[in-house]
Amino acid sequence: MLLDNNRRNPSGILPSEITPQDLFEQRRTVLKAAGAAAAGLLLPAQAYAAQTLDFQKTAFGKEEKLTSFEDVTSYNNYYEFGTGKEDPAREAVLFKPTPWTIKIEGAVKQSKTIGIEQLMKLAPLEERIYRMRCVEGWSMVIPWVGLPLKALIDWAQPTGNAKYIEFISYNDPRHMPGARIPVLDWPYIEGLRMDEAMQSLTILAVGLYGKVLPNQNGAPVRLVVPWKYGFKGAKAISTIRFVEQMPHTSWMKASAREYGFYANVNPAVDHPRWTQSSEKRIGAGLFAGRIKTRLFNGYDEVGQLYAGMDLQKNF
Ligand code: MTE
Repeated sequence: MLLDNNRRNPSGILPSEITPQDLFEQRRTVLKAAGAAAAGLLLPAQAYAAQTLDFQKTAFGKEEKLTSFEDVTSYNNYYEFGTGKEDPAREAVLFKPTPWTIKIEGAVKQSKTIGIEQLMKLAPLEERIYRMRCVEGWSMVIPWVGLPLKALIDWAQPTGNAKYIEFISYNDPRHMPGARIPVLDWPYIEGLRMDEAMQSLTILAVGLYGKVLPNQNGAPVRLVVPWKYGFKGAKAISTIRFVEQMPHTSWMKASAREYGFYANVNPAVDHPRWTQSSEKRIGAGLFAGRIKTRLFNGYDEVGQLYAGMDLQKNF
């Protein structure tokens, strides 16, 4: 069932939302090293992280107050690098996200691989400022840089049997200390229904705050689905598999009672341990009250994807 979610345009941004000065405010082409000389003095991961990206700024989400770069990159969930919020920033510092290829397999015309550089050329990179809501009850506003997942799907040429997509994160216990501990069934697996994947809000992020994705946020490429809880956003994607059956994700395997496949932000369906009716905005200050959580995180346009579904059951 493919719905026409791209009526506006492939990027999901109305022409009227783009101001002239925003249009094609291009930075340099493709990846720009912060300076070859500097790179020699940095660890590989540090040199990688110092790169800026060539992307289009748009008016998308501009009205939101951004969460600071510091908070976005130091308060993370990335269990391959530990279960503490500050573990990933520290433990992923030596992780080398380049060179990188993604395997495309399953219900596709032909299995193939794509390098990260080629992936970044499938569509113009653009900034997307999204509200992100974690199932644990906190939220952030993050200026991602990425491209619509649809661009990769078009390139992959799925067959008629492709009903869902499985996203499989890179897993290497030698370089990922958390992956040596069976807190989750490794590798980390997430999934989307095909129409959710094609929705123009769904992006593959390769950067944030104008720079390449920091390791702790899922370098070099991760999924971002702003109307779903953060755990849907698989980091460091190494395989994308088109499948006929609903994927059995790592969190469903961990606790099907707590984590459903859909994981749509829904204030009416509480998690057994956390309320979903309100959220704490990270960095808003000690005295800032909790914000009311909105259905689909406020991205109302996705509602049509679930028309007729009981969202209490399909949580
Ligand atoms: N991807 C992998 N591979 N491993 C993880 O542990 N955690 C998820 C998701 N993607 C996770 C992952 C969870 S629970 C959340 S809330 C988001 O990443 C957090 O993304 P952020 O650290 O960039 O905010």
